[in-house]
Amino acid sequence: MNPLRTLILAAAGNNTIRRVVATAPVSRDVVRRFVAGETTADAVEVTRKLVREGLTVTLDHLGEDTTDEATADAVVRAYLELLDALDEGGLAERAEVSVKLTAVGQLLDEKLALANASRICAAAESHGTTVTLDMEDHTTTDSTLRILAELRGTWPWVGAVVQSYLRRTLDDSRRLAVAGSRVRLCKGAYFEPPEVAFPDTHEVDLSYVRCALALLSGDGYPMFATHDPRLVRLVGDRAAFYGRKPGSFEFQMLYGIRPDEQLRLAQLGHTVRVYVPYGAEWYGYLMRRLAERPANTAFFLRALASRS
Ligand code: FDA
Repeated sequence: MNPLRTLILAAAGNNTIRRVVATAPVSRDVVRRFVAGETTADAVEVTRKLVREGLTVTLDHLGEDTTDEATADAVVRAYLELLDALDEGGLAERAEVSVKLTAVGQLLDEKLALANASRICAAAESHGTTVTLDMEDHTTTDSTLRILAELRGTWPWVGAVVQSYLRRTLDDSRRLAVAGSRVRLCKGAYFEPPEVAFPDTHEVDLSYVRCALALLSGDGYPMFATHDPRLVRLVGDRAAFYGRKPGSFEFQMLYGIRPDEQLRLAQLGHTVRVYVPYGAEWYGYLMRRLAERPANTAFFLRALASRS
């Protein structure tokens, strides 16, 4: 792995660095490039701006690895408040939510996570929108797919996520490429051992292509989450080859990353969904984004230096 990436991911787990970054005044501005803000109102404001630009949105209330029931309940309530606010703002048709099952209790008890995710799905349905279950590290994959299957029994529109860095994902993609099935394909963002994941980035990219073809040739609704220009191009070409019209699949990118490309694709008539994270727990998310791209880190360090 790239040594800078290793260093940044180590910083993500270091409490002293976390305290410094979280309290530095400059962090606020830099964080705002990738995170909508800390409150529901911030999330709604950013959503409104993106929707006005012709984009669609999926919102993530930041937080993961919840270790007690009260925190899991607070996360659910945050989502319920957000869904109310999106509906009130007339945004629910263009904005859904992304949920991390570990934030709603998966590590405590799978049944608790299912019950909590069900509360969010019921609210989403009553507000006329949808939910996608983010995928976390490989130790949670089977549990997440079990919960997904349970939820889809009642809410068939619940979205799944598969990660091309996992060796299992081509099989999962084929299984999930059925009518009505919303599936986000991403590369994967966690540290994974070589027994379960491709260690080489080129292999991860090739796997992305294989999984994309499985999803495009199937009957589901694929959602291609990547900023990679080669993959965006390839997906566009192959979608046309399989006779997929805009609206029968979508592109997804993260808030603050390649915003011009997001607009360009939307102007071509594609559905483009921006993943917008918000909430007080932004530190781990920010570190993952910095680790992915040295240019992001340089931007962050330059901003810190210019204020010190
Ligand atoms: P990668 O990081 O390999 O970059 C490939 C190329 O993209 C670069 O060479 C560059 O050309 C371009 N690029 C990337 N970043 C850029 C930047 N900042 N500016 C300009 N160009 C840039 N992960 C996970 O494990 N579970 C999940 O549920 C999700 N969910 C999710 C939703 C959405 C909407 C997205 C976009 C991503 C996720 N991810 C995720 C994260 C995903 O797994 C992955 O870590 C990141 O998207 C980075 O991978 P890329 O495909 O963008 O390529």
